[in-house]
Amino acid sequence: MNKKVLAINSSKRKRNTYGLLIDIKEQFEKINIDVDIINLHDYNIELCTGCESCILKDKCFLDDDMDMLMNKLQQYDGIILSTPIYLNNISGKLKMFIDRTCRWVHRPALAGIPIMNVVTTSSSGIKNTLKYMDNVAVQWGAFPTDNISRKVTTVKEKVQPKEYENFVKHIMMDKKLYKPSIEQLIYFSVSKVLALKVIKRDAKYWEDKGWLSKNYFYDSKINIFKKVIANRFYKMLYKKVNRVEE
Ligand SMILES: Cc1cc2nc3c(=O)[nH]c(=O)nc-3n(C[C@H](O)[C@H](O)[C@H](O)COP(=O)(O)O)c2cc1C
Repeated sequence: MNKKVLAINSSKRKRNTYGLLIDIKEQFEKINIDVDIINLHDYNIELCTGCESCILKDKCFLDDDMDMLMNKLQQYDGIILSTPIYLNNISGKLKMFIDRTCRWVHRPALAGIPIMNVVTTSSSGIKNTLKYMDNVAVQWGAFPTDNISRKVTTVKEKVQPKEYENFVKHIMMDKKLYKPSIEQLIYFSVSKVLALKVIKRDAKYWEDKGWLSKNYFYDSKINIFKKVIANRFYKMLYKKVNRVEE
């Protein structure tokens, strides 16, 4: 069966960013990977009200398409997040979407799903934007892979297979062969301490997933030095954070 990728566009226009997604879709279909492209502007996504109910009660009281979209993301073997660069960062629509996924920072739902980012810009903001997007993927428990960027002067250039080879490799490979970065291991430790000491709902989720006794979300090839650093960080943080009784 073909692998499935969800490509999320967040520009209202079907222009530069969308053009790259279409190019990627056509190339992926030749290597038996199906790509569904969606546009966040086609969905009703309300602004986060900041009530924190999603974090504390696992419920959002806004009635819109977010639950459906968050379920949808979990059905795919890989995700492409894309955005035009606005004021040196992601589009507002993508930020609205990301803010509403806040519960995933505590109770990650995309563990092991590879993510590739695609951004277009007139000229500035690529590094800053991709750094932020990679960090979001890590906080979701997902696995950041390749980043594709184009300026308006190069946006018509075909995407080269080497630009997405890492993404495709991770879609195809056994998760046991994944090599989490130190940033991923540290975020795992932070979330685990929050689960054990701060939010009871998180503890239950982490226990059900079997993560409380793990160094990472799943068995993977963790470099020994990174493992030692992450373990030390975890122990230090665990001691420092006071238990919150709800
Ligand atoms: C509101 C807005 C803000 C932008 N900010 C930047 C920017 O900070 N730096 C830049 O180089 N280009 C900026 N651009 C240009 C877009 O990033 C660029 O045209 C992009 O490729 C548009 O993608 P799209 O065709 O998919 O909408 C901005 C465009 C808009 C409309």
